Amino acid sequence: MEKVLSGMRPTGRLHIGHYFGALKNWVKLQDKYECYYFIADWHALTTNFENPENIKELRREMILDWLSVGIDINKATLFVQSKNIFHAELYLLLSMITPIGWLERCPTYKEMKAEITDKDLSGLGFLGYPVLQTADIIMYSAKYVPVGVDQMPHIEISREIVRRFHHLYECDIFVEPEGLLTDVPKLLGLDGRKMSKSYGNAIMLTDDLKHVESEILKMVTDTNRKRKSDPGNPEICPVFDYHKVFSNEDEREFIVDGCKNAKIGCIECKKILIKHLLEFLEPIQVKRSNLEKEIKDVDEFLSESQKKSCTVAEKMMTSVRNALKI
Ligand code: TRP
Ligand code: SF4
Repeated sequence: MEKVLSGMRPTGRLHIGHYFGALKNWVKLQDKYECYYFIADWHALTTNFENPENIKELRREMILDWLSVGIDINKATLFVQSKNIFHAELYLLLSMITPIGWLERCPTYKEMKAEITDKDLSGLGFLGYPVLQTADIIMYSAKYVPVGVDQMPHIEISREIVRRFHHLYECDIFVEPEGLLTDVPKLLGLDGRKMSKSYGNAIMLTDDLKHVESEILKMVTDTNRKRKSDPGNPEICPVFDYHKVFSNEDEREFIVDGCKNAKIGCIECKKILIKHLLEFLEPIQVKRSNLEKEIKDVDEFLSESQKKSCTVAEKMMTSVRNALKI
């Protein structure tokens, strides 16, 4: 069976953008492929090495969110990167053969260096981010890597590293990975900017339902539509973007017609969205609160799965050491 691998940096609780942009697809993939999903906590350190102290708690929050939306430890192998030290060994060996120019030219690297001013990104770890990511991926012979578009340059670097490794050591032990892009409508934040917890514009999977309702009621709509008698334009309304994700075709037709012809008010339109959002969030939250009680110790919960990841990785590292004759 072909293998799929993806990871997330532990940034704590997840929002609905994470769900529709990634997790929903991860859940689907677990039925079709041999899947590996892991918490990239070393990657989190590349930008956050000054504050490592809450990483354990963040791991727990993220695993609980994964499970609450249907990631299933009986279907996919779930593990923590920092508890599989083979990743560090492969990263080290790959770093020998990766030209620094490849990394300096990487768009994500250049953009983050230019944009982020409140963090020290001058370290080797941050520059080597794509090399560590490559180790994560090729360790498991993953063919498909579901990621967002922003990560595609990293996958390209992975492919180049694989080719260089095979060429240098005259072997063929890795699979050249491919990015798997999901074409989901992008969910913007409540204020129309990119959804992000740090902007305070996200709907978290764990947000109190009453709070979600009031946030939606506060959301800006088509700003030209001041009262119900003014016709509106759903295509420029951020509320309608959400309807594209949450509502069915009939409802969307009803809204487009009602909005353009000034037959429905924005509150009525938002109420439809709120109903869907709450129906979506409630079962996730129920499941999560049960899991919180059941899973006292995440490390213990993951231990079998973690062990499996180490077994696969150790086997790959034997081939790697053989290829290098060390
Ligand atoms: N860089 C990814 C992100 O920020 C996280 C990640 C680390 C990853 N290693 C990976 C994703 C391997 C896919 C495969 O989202
Ligand atoms: Fe937006 Fe709905 Fe109001 Fe139209 S009716 S402007 S789609 S909130």
